[in-house]
Amino acid sequence: MGGAGLLVATDILKSNLAAEAPNSSHSTMIGVPFEARERVRMGIIGVGGRGTSLLGELLGVENVEIKAICDIIPAKVAHAQKAVTDKGQPEPKAFTKGDWDFKNLTQLDLDIVYIATPWNWHVPMAVEAMKNGKHAAVEVPACTTLEECWQLVDTSEATRKHCVILENCCYGENEMMVLDMVRDGVFGEITHGEAAYLHDLRSIVTANEGEGLWRRFPHMQRNGNLYPTHGLGPVAHYMDIHRGDRFDYMVSVSSREASLSAYVKANFPDADPKRAEKYICGDMNTSIIKTLKGRTILLQHDVVNPRPYSRLNSIQGTKGMFADYPARIFIDAPKKEDWDSIDLFQEKYAHPLWKKTGELARKMGGHGGMDYVMNYRLMDCIKRGLIPDIDVYDAAAWSAPTPLSETSVAQNGASQKFPDFTRGKWNVRSQSQGFAL
Ligand SMILES: NC(=O)c1ccc[n+]([C@@H]2O[C@H](COP(=O)([O-])OP(=O)(O)OC[C@H]3O[C@@H](n4cnc5c(N)ncnc54)[C@H](O)[C@@H]3O)[C@@H](O)[C@H]2O)c1
Repeated sequence: MGGAGLLVATDILKSNLAAEAPNSSHSTMIGVPFEARERVRMGIIGVGGRGTSLLGELLGVENVEIKAICDIIPAKVAHAQKAVTDKGQPEPKAFTKGDWDFKNLTQLDLDIVYIATPWNWHVPMAVEAMKNGKHAAVEVPACTTLEECWQLVDTSEATRKHCVILENCCYGENEMMVLDMVRDGVFGEITHGEAAYLHDLRSIVTANEGEGLWRRFPHMQRNGNLYPTHGLGPVAHYMDIHRGDRFDYMVSVSSREASLSAYVKANFPDADPKRAEKYICGDMNTSIIKTLKGRTILLQHDVVNPRPYSRLNSIQGTKGMFADYPARIFIDAPKKEDWDSIDLFQEKYAHPLWKKTGELARKMGGHGGMDYVMNYRLMDCIKRGLIPDIDVYDAAAWSAPTPLSETSVAQNGASQKFPDFTRGKWNVRSQSQGFAL
């Protein structure tokens, strides 16, 4: 993992200390709408696995023009350019001249820059895009240290450009439906949620291509939750985080490391350099977040154990609960003990965005359709000049569990305060603004 943001373990722990709000003379980005426009002109940095699939979905959204593509591997850019011209758009400009050529892309006349590169590049790229007058849409996690979280917040406020985290799981069919059920009071007063990223990535992180070229390295440098946002984003929405509540503090512990090293030992010959690697990230990291309004969130991360996929995606209130994998609902009633299928609630609560775009979204693939819905919705917000569903404060707070869990783990589970990235404005916005159509 070369270039920007390559930190050694001690630097990472130091930059985790930047928890206090830096002084700022700039006003908040909460509630700031995009400038409406008919067409969205876009640049994409990083067209590996994720950037290529995002591009495919964006090409299926009306009035989105892909103007520029950047990647350090020219063949990937050529492949992306062809995907664009195959859809009848003019060939996008290519930026392939090394690690920092993205800076030249951000000089073009564009409305937004999508960033789908390895984690250490997200912040320098988003900051450069915003400083050059473009909105930034960053893959997950948006940032990996508290210092970086603040860099995104400060730059977004100073430049008046949005920095959106591309948290596709917030746009899942179940997640959007459950959000509406929460808001309708179906589960009563919300007290607890469960969120996770439990996904066996052993073959992916040890491959000699794609994420295998960079995603294993954090496992040698950091012990904590490396990928918090897929589970946490939707639960943060259920709990109105930054829309009336806020993450207050968290505690975190990690199991010992065993599974990734066992996998490497079993699958690579003695001479393979991977055999000499030392992984320090515990197989299962478990955190508990407490919110200012007294709610709790169980947050887990495990990408190395053999197991079926789950994001837990659960929410509990005084009248009932939802839990995913499989999706099921329990509503309190006398003598009731069994789950109901989520399908029973579809007719009343299926989200309008899914009713409108669901058929196409499912056809476009992308994690069951949620990737298309996310891209469609973000482009729609820009074209219509709406407030983004997810802003820089969400990007920072949903990504912050990486450094906070790391510090807590290093201190035997000691409690870590979340910075208030909103600078006191977590309560000014009403819940109804999120996903308002
Ligand atoms: N939201 C999701 O469901 C989801 C799914 C997969 C990946 N991701 C995220 O997307 C991002 C990319 O992951 P991926 O799976 O596509 O990885 P990848 O390795 O397949 O692609 C990364 C691409 O970035 C390019 N790149 C690296 N440094 C660059 C630089 N300085 N300038 C330009 N290009 C550069 C690489 O050449 C590569 O093509 C990561 O942040 C990952 O966490 C999100």
